[in-house]
Amino acid sequence: MAKQSLTITDNRTSKQYEIPIEEGGVIRAAALRDIKLNPNDFGLMSYDPAFINTASCKSRITFIDGDRGILRYRGYAIEDLAEKSSYLETAYLIVKGELPNLKHFKTWEHNIKVHTMVHENIKKFMEGFRYDAHPMGMLVGTVGAMSTFYPDAKNIEDLESRRLQTRRLIGKIPTIAAYAYRHTRGLPYVYPDNELSYTGNFLSMLFKMTELKYEPDPILERALDVLFILHADHEQNCSANAMRAIGSSKVDPYSATAGAIAALFGPLHGGANEDVVRMLMEIGSVEKVPAAVKSFKEGNSRRLMGFGHRVYKNYDPRARFGKKLASEVFKVTGENPLIKVALELERIALEDDYFVARKLYPNVDFYTGLIYQAMGFPMTMFPVLFAIARTSGWLAQWAEMVRDPEQKIARPRQIFIGSAPRDYIKMDHRPEPESREERVSDSI
Ligand code: CMC
Repeated sequence: MAKQSLTITDNRTSKQYEIPIEEGGVIRAAALRDIKLNPNDFGLMSYDPAFINTASCKSRITFIDGDRGILRYRGYAIEDLAEKSSYLETAYLIVKGELPNLKHFKTWEHNIKVHTMVHENIKKFMEGFRYDAHPMGMLVGTVGAMSTFYPDAKNIEDLESRRLQTRRLIGKIPTIAAYAYRHTRGLPYVYPDNELSYTGNFLSMLFKMTELKYEPDPILERALDVLFILHADHEQNCSANAMRAIGSSKVDPYSATAGAIAALFGPLHGGANEDVVRMLMEIGSVEKVPAAVKSFKEGNSRRLMGFGHRVYKNYDPRARFGKKLASEVFKVTGENPLIKVALELERIALEDDYFVARKLYPNVDFYTGLIYQAMGFPMTMFPVLFAIARTSGWLAQWAEMVRDPEQKIARPRQIFIGSAPRDYIKMDHRPEPESREERVSDSI
């Protein structure tokens, strides 16, 4: 077998270095530090804005083959899980690494359900938000505030504490999300009903009105559960990376999760499902699709939301499932009229050279917003639904990071391109900048 190493010649010094190739195709960036001009030199480093080609961790949780459109949690195909599993079972798999047997599942379900209630002061805390506060903002703030209710969570090296916070967060996040929704509607908060399934209870906390017991529509309950499965983890995406980076300072998991939710909120990540529907509404009709596609290509307005992915260079398997799910949900809710615009948009984009050349395919967010809208969710709740599902993934990523002996506080390097040393000049001695550009060139 060929030697698993890389030989580098530094042409500045004519020295040669041998760097091991690990895991079938990985070199350690730190090995570059040995390549120096002289013993006092810092050594080489790699420059990789946005981590395009840098692995930040070793993980056993989620596998993606972006070229072939494959997604697996702990070795199980997403299609299999979406068809046969439930969100709570999948959450167990993601967090613990194996599918549970019946006894273990019942214990897990019980352990999650005993945590669905939130402290009354959390409810009061949420009442302080403005009536029109975005539910994602409320979620960020409230999950962050949970660290003040559970100070024991800072014992992150303690396995039992990590397990407890994991169960608490998975149990409580639907309750907080539902309270955020009820708050925006000016409706009284609904307490959890633990006789219902995880997803059925969430629907009850959202939509229960005066009836004594809310009975979720089984098709919609299952559809939402499947959507939760599809969103449960996605390896080192922006919010998982945020969770790991924040958690690497050894802060409690509530603070880290609040940061992950904030990362998810952005329109390039979990906020995209909200923007997809806004975009479809703006396009409005099938006839206007060609003009819209043209404008996306020209980059005049926004991007084609719900298209493209850093890792998938093929159809996102979650989007394929979302499309199928949409037709099932519409049988109950009636068709979302925007689906026609979405289908035409997909058809035209997938034949268009611009999208073909860049391997831009629908991603998970392309169809999910239409499903959520048909189910009666306001658009601002779409990223919140993503956050509920992703909580199990974030916690699994966090726990893996905490246990990984190779991990340290996340602290990238930079290439400093700013000013050379200069003397401080008193304010009244400073010259006027010559132009506005000069004054604002480096400002926010
Ligand atoms: N519409 C039009 N052009 C696009 C799009 C799009 N949706 N996505 C990428 N491109 C173009 C981009 O302009 C660039 O073109 P060029 O090479 O000529 O400069 C090329 O494709 C590569 O794009 P990139 O920005 O370098 O790719 P990235 O890997 O950094 O970005 C992405 C990935 C998801 C942020 C991006 O595709 C995007 O903005 N998509 C729309 C937002 C969206 O749907 N986000 C949800 C992602 S899936 C859910 C999740 O996991 O968060």
